[in-house]
Amino acid sequence: MNTLVLSPAERAQAAASLARFVDSYEESLSARPILPDVDRDTLAKLLAEPFPAEGVGVEGFFADLRDRIVPNSTTVAHPRFLAYVQGPPNGIAPYADAITAVLNQNCNFWQLSPAASVVERSVVDWLAGLFGLGPDAGGILTNGGSGATKDAITTALADRRPDFRERGLQSGAPPLVLYTSEEAHRCVDKAAATLGLGLDHVRHIPTDDAFRLRVDLLADAIAADRAAGLEPFCVVATAGTVTSGSIDPIGPIADLCAREDLWLHVDGAYGALFVLADSARETFAPLSRADSIALDPHKMLFTPLEAGALVVKDAGKLRAAFAFSSSYLTVAEDELMLDFMDYGPQLSRSFKALKVWAALRTFGVDTFRAAAERCLRLAARLGERVAAEPGLTLLNPVALTAVCVRLDGRRDEEYPALLAQLADEGTALLGPARLHGQTAIRACVANYRTTEADIDLIGDRLAALAEA
Ligand SMILES: Cc1ncc(COP(=O)(O)O)c(C=O)c1O
Repeated sequence: MNTLVLSPAERAQAAASLARFVDSYEESLSARPILPDVDRDTLAKLLAEPFPAEGVGVEGFFADLRDRIVPNSTTVAHPRFLAYVQGPPNGIAPYADAITAVLNQNCNFWQLSPAASVVERSVVDWLAGLFGLGPDAGGILTNGGSGATKDAITTALADRRPDFRERGLQSGAPPLVLYTSEEAHRCVDKAAATLGLGLDHVRHIPTDDAFRLRVDLLADAIAADRAAGLEPFCVVATAGTVTSGSIDPIGPIADLCAREDLWLHVDGAYGALFVLADSARETFAPLSRADSIALDPHKMLFTPLEAGALVVKDAGKLRAAFAFSSSYLTVAEDELMLDFMDYGPQLSRSFKALKVWAALRTFGVDTFRAAAERCLRLAARLGERVAAEPGLTLLNPVALTAVCVRLDGRRDEEYPALLAQLADEGTALLGPARLHGQTAIRACVANYRTTEADIDLIGDRLAALAEA
């Protein structure tokens, strides 16, 4: 090939191959191994082989996919893929992503992406509206929940120290301290470490017996730090902790933050979009008091990776943290459009919003409400089964969709092998967990393809393994 344009015949071939692949993948999902039997020789050869001077062409590329890539890929969309917090992509996703690639809008400033700017705005406004963040709210789509939390902490730093941009953490003012719980996701530590706060200035507050941050101990820690001459500035609460799905007491934490003048960020990467479920809506009502919320469309809106989001009560503060002017990137303002480069760390940005917008438009919001509700119901079903089974111990109240199970008579060292066995035999891919010092197997239902029969199969198998 001496051109980068496909001929009409090649385009037809590529489209037909893609359509065949999408169809056969969809139809074979349940029968595929959840974890591939990785062919190390094939992958080692792939790593070692030089790229061809003369291309393999469209047919060759699809043959590579069929023979080398797909058989060595994890079946994330399998109905019993219940490890971590990752759902299968929704049905319009492959087509939306293809259009994103064709249009290749750069969502940095509006002139390069006018419609995309408005689409992203509409998605962000809808997300912020789910939590009642108010008329000044805004935000941005990110590459995930970790990035959203890092950007939120950056915003909190800039808000606390007006000279943060110039002097960073070197201003000589008292060291800043951030508070979160011992059950918080490691993205909080990672953000603090990479932003230069230092892990010594992150307090991991103990949790109660339902794995929720203890507000009394948070108040004590803040008082102790103030007495020691340090400067508390931010609390990261979690709405859906990664291991147990617990929801920190956001209302009382918001009261404390208001009294102490602290930024309240809520890490809702796993849990916040369960606000869509009627049965959970009230639980999430206190999130309206947050200064910022991280959430993940690539989890409970089932968009393909990557699509996270940060929504902020006062969008001006996000802009104050991230907007930089430069002569080579100046466009006239337009009240309809936003220059998203001013709301986050990236300059070149993909049209991530299209896949979120496409899903909401194609399936309608009620479909996502029903999917969230269904995941909650299935997790409750598994939780009830585990609680009722003599050989199993449920380690967490099932607040959302994470179910942590201990198998009676099994030693901690046996758990990795048990997880491998469950995956190898095709029962399910479940994840490891540790809660208040106890090792467990964790199922996390974030999968719209999972059925009651899948849940019961997992329950039966766990019970049998406990007896064994
Ligand atoms: C509570 C919580 N926070 C943050 C993250 C990280 O999100 P991401 O993988 O989108 O960066 C996760 C991922 O599961 C999570 O459960």
